Amino acid sequence: MHLKDKVALVTGAAQGIGKAFTQALLEKGCKVALVDLNEEVGKASKDAFDKQFDAQRTIFVPCDVSDEEKLKDAFQKTVQHFGQLDIVVNNAGVNNEKNWEITVQINLISVIRGTYLGLEYMKNENGGSGGAIVNIASLAGLLPVAYQPVYSASKHGVIGFTRSIAPISNC
Ligand SMILES: NC(=O)c1ccc[n+]([C@@H]2O[C@H](COP(=O)([O-])OP(=O)(O)OC[C@H]3O[C@@H](n4cnc5c(N)ncnc54)[C@H](O)[C@@H]3O)[C@@H](O)[C@H]2O)c1
Repeated sequence: MHLKDKVALVTGAAQGIGKAFTQALLEKGCKVALVDLNEEVGKASKDAFDKQFDAQRTIFVPCDVSDEEKLKDAFQKTVQHFGQLDIVVNNAGVNNEKNWEITVQINLISVIRGTYLGLEYMKNENGGSGGAIVNIASLAGLLPVAYQPVYSASKHGVIGFTRSIAPISNC
């Protein structure tokens, strides 16, 4: 896929791996919607990108990906702003064994929802122009992790879901 002028939505883009994805996509000529819960760090990351790249090429969209309506809004805002959507990176994740339901909600359910939303906007048969969806798992999704059973379960889920849907979701 040629990346110049493609539009990407990256969740958990304020810092860490999501920010690194954003940097790499911008370097290849993409426009990127940075979607993140953390407004302060998200805005600071956009400001930092604006010093390196044209400010028009990024937007920051504050959003808790575990909130169905807010995630839908984030997709809608991205398409409204940039006029298209070509790449989704479902990256936002947490590792919280105590509030384990939240870990499943963010790491697995929101990744599934983000995938379905990506297909809704990008799939040819839905009026889109095709695209790519990247779901971030972990080695913990392939191997057991003794002290992180829920994190590991959520990432096993991401891998199982992504492998299962990939063959039937050709954009
Ligand atoms: N760091 C690692 O060693 C590692 C290894 C394997 C997989 N991963 C996976 O990579 C992804 C990114 O990890 P990271 O290390 O960059 O994490 P990080 O904690 O540095 O960054 C995560 C980002 O996601 C955002 N976020 C958290 N909950 C959110 C929510 N509900 N809605 C929107 N945004 C939310 C945070 O604000 C933060 O900006 C995660 O899915 C993680 O499980 C990380």
